[in-house]
Amino acid sequence: MKVLSVASEMYPLVKTGGLADVVGALPLSLRLHGVETRTLLPGYPAVMKAIRDTVVAATLPDLLGVEARILAVQHEGLDLLVLDAPAYFDRPGGPYIDTGGKDHPDNWKRFAALSKAGAEIAAGALRGWRPDLVHVHDWQSALTPIYMRYAETPELPSLITIHNIAFQGQFPATIFPELGLPQHAYWEALEYYGTISYLKAGLTVSHALSTVSPSYAEEILTPEFGMGLEGVIASRAADLYGIVNGIDAVAWNPAGDGLIASDFNGANLKKRAANKVALTRHFGLDEDDGPLFSIVSRLTWQKGIDLLAEVVDELVAQGGRLAVLGTGDPELETALLDAASRHRGRVAMTVAYNEPLSHLMQAGSDALIVPSRFEPCGLTQLYALRYGCIPIVARTGGLNDTIIDANEAAIAAKAATGIQFSPVTADGLRQALRRAFRLYRDEKTWSQMQKQGMKSDVSWGRSAERYVSLYERLVSKGQ
Ligand code: ADP
Ligand code: GLC
Repeated sequence: MKVLSVASEMYPLVKTGGLADVVGALPLSLRLHGVETRTLLPGYPAVMKAIRDTVVAATLPDLLGVEARILAVQHEGLDLLVLDAPAYFDRPGGPYIDTGGKDHPDNWKRFAALSKAGAEIAAGALRGWRPDLVHVHDWQSALTPIYMRYAETPELPSLITIHNIAFQGQFPATIFPELGLPQHAYWEALEYYGTISYLKAGLTVSHALSTVSPSYAEEILTPEFGMGLEGVIASRAADLYGIVNGIDAVAWNPAGDGLIASDFNGANLKKRAANKVALTRHFGLDEDDGPLFSIVSRLTWQKGIDLLAEVVDELVAQGGRLAVLGTGDPELETALLDAASRHRGRVAMTVAYNEPLSHLMQAGSDALIVPSRFEPCGLTQLYALRYGCIPIVARTGGLNDTIIDANEAAIAAKAATGIQFSPVTADGLRQALRRAFRLYRDEKTWSQMQKQGMKSDVSWGRSAERYVSLYERLVSKGQ
């Protein structure tokens, strides 16, 4: 089977979050099931710089008023189609924001162009290759199924995956005439309370919808988590699937990770200690026997970082230390930097995006705190499991589906892999930390949990199979 995946980021070329990890790792697992994925990605400067030996696979003379090319290239085992459209993508800043931290003002056009290029490939723009199915991710590629629906060529089956419903690609209705769609598309799909929503449009016309965990698939049917789209999703409930993410088990392998101080596995956990020492020194923290907690995260409201800021004094008072790696909302950064200056030697923070350091954090800290208010899947808790780092997570979304709480029964059954807490409030988190301190002092139980976590199946294996059967169902329905 041939699949065109359309996405706005992909590890290792360009990453702002878990979406990139998924888009980069899933094709490798799908390949084991005979699925050939080609991924269409914008030609941001970082992408253009990294790729070599490209072949011009197609020229698009009028991509929303701009000439563009599609370059085919292999990169680190991935089969890429890069949308070379300098007017849209050759500029400083990140994929979505400029150097000043503001959204690029023409994001509506940049990602409509990406989506349209996807639809042109679906319609046969590449000589000798046409997909059987198109898989799009989040709002940035959500218009691909729309352009496919309103094209003259027969429509291929499409799947849209929601990685985060908080980002919907909502723009003023005045852009509509520039999208190159027939007038009736507005009322049929794009209109959203007098504006245009790319995500809503994609959810309306794609043949199937998925999100990245079973719990989140249920949550987004409710007003609390649906963020206004719960009605649209409810109308598509029969076509909605929840498939939990896996991780790239080669990039994230404590037994062979060049980015950590000492390799280890479940059978020689003692060797993990050298990583704790390295991490402690990296952050200039005190060296003692107490637990070292960590955070690796975007610093946003979604991630519950304000809750952490509220409990940090108690964490320190109980003898804990905290290392934070993250960037995000300036207020949250400041709150944590203040905590670090209040508690020198006990709390430290690196305000950066630092992939190598994120590996050492997983390998060297005792527990990773993930206090998210909502979490479609979450990947950091999966890396933590693999690295013998105990995840302390909010009971929501994918965190709920991937971590087994250390309640009495789970401990007795040797099934526990972490700590879950609910409600997701500062008090809830405080209680969870108290439990963590108690468990940490019980060395036998703690190391049993570490080993159990390291045995958890966090690979793409089963989830890739679920995608394959969904793809197959869609393709056979479409025939
Ligand atoms: P989200 O996509 O919502 O940010 P995920 O847990 O799915 O959450 O994925 C986050 C990804 O980004 C993980 O791979 C995590 O390790 C990485 N990450 C987040 N913040 C940082 C950071 N400051 N430095 C390095 N990696 C980070
Ligand atoms: C989003 C979600 C996160 C998920 C990731 C990859 O960024 O916030 O929970 O793990 O996408 O699917």
